[in-house]
Amino acid sequence: MIIAIDGPAGSGKSAIARMVGENTGFTYINSGLFYRALTRKVLDTGCDPANPDHRDQVLQIARESTISWRDGVLYLDHAPVSEHGLRTDEVDAHVAQLSSLPEVRAVVNQALRQSARNQDSVVEGRDITTVVFPDADVKIYLDADIEARAQRRYAESTSELSLEELRAAIAERDRRDRDKREGSLLLSEDAVYLDTSDLTIDTVYDRVMNTIRMKR
Ligand code: DC
Repeated sequence: MIIAIDGPAGSGKSAIARMVGENTGFTYINSGLFYRALTRKVLDTGCDPANPDHRDQVLQIARESTISWRDGVLYLDHAPVSEHGLRTDEVDAHVAQLSSLPEVRAVVNQALRQSARNQDSVVEGRDITTVVFPDADVKIYLDADIEARAQRRYAESTSELSLEELRAAIAERDRRDRDKREGSLLLSEDAVYLDTSDLTIDTVYDRVMNTIRMKR
């Protein structure tokens, strides 16, 4: 069984998907980390995902990378990757550009399907309900207004940015995520939509679990 959850940055989908995974025993897969790990690798080789002159090299790096998810850990080129190093302002500033490349998306989509193969999984991202698992058993779209999302990121303290700067960075990432040629953030017509702006994480979790119970 596949539970697919999509939503914009800061909508709470990672926290909710993790909780659902812990309480159902489903494998929790965070697809954003796949894009973040590839972004880190590209930046470490001195390439800029936004620079058209680096495009060939960027695509080659993506094609040659081995990426997988096992037992809650992301592996890039067979080495475990720490999530901590992927949640930086630098990765945040470049990941939307890297993830806008259709060739990169094809690599990640295949890795996601392989990671969820033969096991009950809860997978979250931007195009999980629409592209990666269009036949998912349960589809949920978590939303929240930009103020709530900026406040949540600020409270996480993983960023050096001020609340004002975070709000602007999230708005910019939203714009890039929505304007992608492939894999843009869309509300699937068969997804359950939840606006979490004024809800506590426990309330969101209860509503998501109720949806899952009804579908199971
Ligand atoms: O969920 P996140 O903020 O960690 O995702 C990081 C970036 O990766 C985000 O800017 C959009 C991109 N992404 C994507 O294009 N498709 C996905 N399924 C997941 C993430």
